Amino acid sequence: MQKVLIARRIFPDIVLRLGAQFELDIHDDDQPLQQPELIRRLQGKVGLFASGTELIDAALLDACPELRAVCLMTVGYNNVDLAACTARGVLVSNAPDVLTETTADFAFALMMAAARRVSESEHYLRRGDWKEWRVDLFAGADVHGATLGILGMGRIGQAIARRGALGFGMQVIYHNRSRLAPELEAPLGARWVEKEQLLREADHLVLVLPYTPESHHAVGAAELSLMKPSATLTNIARGGIVDDVALARALAGGQLAAAGLDVFEGEPQVHPDLLALSNVVLTPHIASASVPTRRAMCNLAVDNLIAALTGGVPPTALNAGVLSLGG
Ligand code: DGY
Repeated sequence: MQKVLIARRIFPDIVLRLGAQFELDIHDDDQPLQQPELIRRLQGKVGLFASGTELIDAALLDACPELRAVCLMTVGYNNVDLAACTARGVLVSNAPDVLTETTADFAFALMMAAARRVSESEHYLRRGDWKEWRVDLFAGADVHGATLGILGMGRIGQAIARRGALGFGMQVIYHNRSRLAPELEAPLGARWVEKEQLLREADHLVLVLPYTPESHHAVGAAELSLMKPSATLTNIARGGIVDDVALARALAGGQLAAAGLDVFEGEPQVHPDLLALSNVVLTPHIASASVPTRRAMCNLAVDNLIAALTGGVPPTALNAGVLSLGG
């Protein structure tokens, strides 16, 4: 029987799907495997069920020559060196689409919480500070009718745009390397603009771009200085896209009204300057975390692993070409 490593604790019934096909080594824990241990556990394994945090680089691949398939339960694959995998005939898959709507819902939750000061006011109430009603008590910004700016207009960006345009009557502007086809833009009234214009005009800016060397600190001090002091910033993409220190400074200095952050540089550590601020809503990388969606993400990784290792067609391979090369 072929051997597969499951690198994180996942849903037991989904483990059973893999167990019916492969001999399993299960790291049944929420702490990720450290690199030397990951490499040790991968010896003799042809497949890896990965949670997205494992670093799959050339060194690991060279140390694990039997590995044939790395199947991620996440859409983001910034910790995988895809070129190195492809060069060695290792199939890589991610989990797009199944999390699009759930993640877009959460972007809205964070954006609205930041704009309407939900966390800040709840903490105030829980502290027992609420003594009287005031005309401007936690008065924030409106979301309906405002300008929604989206940086990165892939599937999740478009799902956020749909919510904004059709549900909240927002004007949608976006910046992306490539412009959407007119038939996608038109129903949303979405307008492509230069990044600088996006930063200047957005009332609520949402970041949805993949993390790459080019998008590292795509929003730093210079970009934040262009934004309206009344604006909010929401990041559901990846830590490292925002310069967290610069963001904390902007939020503390009134350069920006509020932020909603689900991802952080160096997470699960969160920069103490952010933790000290009341005008930022902080959540622990849970944008895709509804039960049905997390299950769908795991099931899709399993579908990919089974197909990749049994001669099938993995539904969401990133480098399907390696299979035709006999990899
Ligand atoms: C993803 O799928 O990339 C989400 O960020 C969960 O990690």
